[in-house]
Formats: sequence, structure tokens, C-alpha cells
Amino acid sequence: MENELSIEKKKIGPIALITLNRPSVLNALNREMVNEIITSLKQFDQNDEVRVIVINGKGKAFAAGADIEEMASDHPISLEWLNPFAEWDQIYSVKKPIIGAVHGYCLGGGFELALACDLLIAAERTKFGFPEVKLGVMPGAGGTQWLPKFIGKTKAMEWLFTGDLYDASEVYLYGIINKIVPNELLMEETMKLAEKIANQPPLSIRLIKEAVYKAIDEPLREGMHFERKNFYLLFASEDQKEGMQAFLEKRNPQFKGK
Ligand code: CAA
Repeated sequence: MENELSIEKKKIGPIALITLNRPSVLNALNREMVNEIITSLKQFDQNDEVRVIVINGKGKAFAAGADIEEMASDHPISLEWLNPFAEWDQIYSVKKPIIGAVHGYCLGGGFELALACDLLIAAERTKFGFPEVKLGVMPGAGGTQWLPKFIGKTKAMEWLFTGDLYDASEVYLYGIINKIVPNELLMEETMKLAEKIANQPPLSIRLIKEAVYKAIDEPLREGMHFERKNFYLLFASEDQKEGMQAFLEKRNPQFKGK
């Protein structure tokens, strides 16, 4: 275990794949692993050949949360100095689309990582939840902030107060998951979606993502203004000319990210 790399990464054409790799502890996220995930996300975000990033987990689970063994002896003062959750903010600065492919368990910090993905495909019977309350703590990497935005206050309170685990079929009803697929088709379906997005004009995808986060983060009026500016900006791109010209000429467009 100690010699294992805590994540694996590879590039499949324009798609970058990050695989959580601590299967013996259900991919519990220790600090070194979070650091590696963020470093890899930033590297792939800067790599011109990458258009979409996929995150999945090896073994029985996507991730069963932050590493409880590592956290157990933490103290407010050591946490204040280390500030381990500050670096999670960087996940939200990734400009390229991130797809989470989750299975087994998606809990606590693992659920927070999944919520930081732009799209989520879940294998049947995946269990989601925020069990932190049962450990005498609470989510620390954004769970209490993102969950009510996504599923509304009262359901978020229920999930966070009870720490219960919820089946993918129920979680799907709240719009957090894009699709539920049989376990054996998880990666095939995820890669299909990733390829579809990789074939879209990268600048549009980048500015759409940025604008959607404005809608979540900022007051509506500011978001509308931001969206409008991004829309106008796209008209400086070659891909806009190509996309519209191809439509008028009834042919498939060739997008270059310029
Ligand atoms: N941290 C450390 N180790 C973990 C872990 C975690 N979050 N989750 C599972 N493991 C380890 C177990 O200790 C066990 O290790 P050993 O084989 O050495 O005993 C191994 O993974 C397999 O787990 P189980 O035997 O418990 O497997 P199971 O199938 O019986 O149960 C489970 C699965 C219900 C997910 C259970 O493992 C569990 O409840 N895990 C903890 C979930 C949790 O509380 N997550 C929140 C963490 S706090 C957090 O995430 C804070 C934050 O906001 C960032």
C-alpha cells in the first residue's frame, strides 16, 4: 500500500483520466492524494491536447471520504496552520470540463469531489451521503455550501443531519447525477460523453463553464452580464466562424480551439 501511487493518470486522445488509487481503503482521500489530484487537474488544464478530464476510482468505490485515520488526531490549531481544505478551491478554478464516473461509495469528501465535477455518471446502486455527522464533525470541503444550492435547503439539511446513505436512483431525482448506468458500462458511457464534449468547440465549452459557475456563485444580474460578455467574446474566435459557416454549408464543422 505505502508504495502505491495514490492516483493514476493517463491520456486517451483528448481525454485525460485521473483514477483514485487507494482501493484497500475505498479510496479514502488523504492529503497527499488530494494534492496529487489537484496538481494533475492543473497540469491537464494547461495541456493543449486535453479537452475533457475524467475522474474515477479503482476498486469497490469512487471514494468513501476523507481519510479518517489521517484526520483522527487533528486539532483546531494544527488544522488552522495546515488549512487542508483551502487547496480544494483550486478544483473550482479548472477551466476544462470535468466528468466524475462514480461507483460503489461516494461519501463525505468523495461526494464533495464528485460535486466539484461538472457532470456525473453513476453506476447503479452507488451510495451517496455525508456521514461526517456520525464522526462528530461536518463536511469541510464545501458540502454544506454546494449541497443546498444543488438540491435545496430542506433535503440538504436531512442528508447532512442524518448522515444517511442514499441510492443513486434517489440522488438522480435531485439532478446531481446526469445518468445512471450498469456498473460494467460505467467507463464506456463516461468516455462516450467525454468524447462528445471533446468534439465541441473548446472555447465555447470553456466560457460556458465559466458562465454557469457565475450563475451559481454570483447574483443573477451579474451572471447575466458576465454571460453576455462571454457570448460576445466568442465571436472573436475562428471556431465561431467555422461553426456557423459549416451550418450554412450543411457540413460538419472542424473545431480547433482558436
Ligand atoms: N477513511 C479511512 N479508511 C476508510 C474510510 C475512510 N473514510 N472508509 C473506509 N475505510 C477503510 C476501512 O477502515 C477498511 O479498512 P481495513 O480493511 O483496514 O479495516 C476498508 O476501508 C474497507 O472499509 P470497510 O471494511 O468499512 O467496508 P464496508 O464495505 O464494510 O463499509 C463504508 C463501507 C460504509 C463506506 C464504510 O467503510 C464507512 O462508513 N466508511 C467511512 C465513511 C465516512 O465516514 N466518510 C466521511 C469521512 S470524513 C470527510 O470526508 C470530511 C470531509 O468533508 C472532507
